[in-house]
Amino acid sequence: MIVSMIFCLCACGQTSGKALPQGEKDTLVVYFSRTGNTADAAQIIADYTGADIIRITRTEPYPDNLEACVKEVSEEMQNGELPAINEKVNNMNSYDVVFLCYPIWLNSIPMPMVTFMEENSLSGKYVIPVATHSGSEFGNSISVIQSHSGNAKILDGIALLNGNTQGLTEKLSEYGYN
Ligand SMILES: Cc1cc2nc3c(=O)[nH]c(=O)nc-3n(C[C@H](O)[C@H](O)[C@H](O)COP(=O)(O)O)c2cc1C
Repeated sequence: MIVSMIFCLCACGQTSGKALPQGEKDTLVVYFSRTGNTADAAQIIADYTGADIIRITRTEPYPDNLEACVKEVSEEMQNGELPAINEKVNNMNSYDVVFLCYPIWLNSIPMPMVTFMEENSLSGKYVIPVATHSGSEFGNSISVIQSHSGNAKILDGIALLNGNTQGLTEKLSEYGYN
């Protein structure tokens, strides 16, 4: 009991600094976005780091109406449903670093990103979470990422209030990209 509590204190939602290996880093930016904030941030990251970029889309799009969207998202999360997505990365092995970019939804990460993590192994990679939000920062998304990314090393992420990308490239330089 005490051991598991200590483990949880150490492991739950903890991230591991910003140190990436020096030199060439094959990087992939994976993002999900409904209204464009995360898409803008993801594109800046891809341009700055020279990464490949992929947008995750749910096979059945969420409703445009916000109220209906929140209802569907809430049910999906409560039921732990993994929605089908349209994308699959065939050369996942070739990437050393993966930026996971997403809006915070109901204090967590949208389920299509969880589907992505389940279908495309992040094990052995460096993962950098990038969340856009309207006040929740990362919410509980980091522990969700941890539980779906095998033994990936989750680095300290970047949280962007209302998708504000001011200062984003300076933050990226802290990971050793230049
Ligand atoms: C269904 C839904 C749930 C949301 N839940 C939260 C939340 O719990 N906390 C928060 O800070 N922002 C929440 N937001 C706001 C978004 O995270 C924020 O507007 C984000 O930047 C949108 O990114 P996008 O334009 O890439 O879709 C929510 C938005 C939607 C549509």
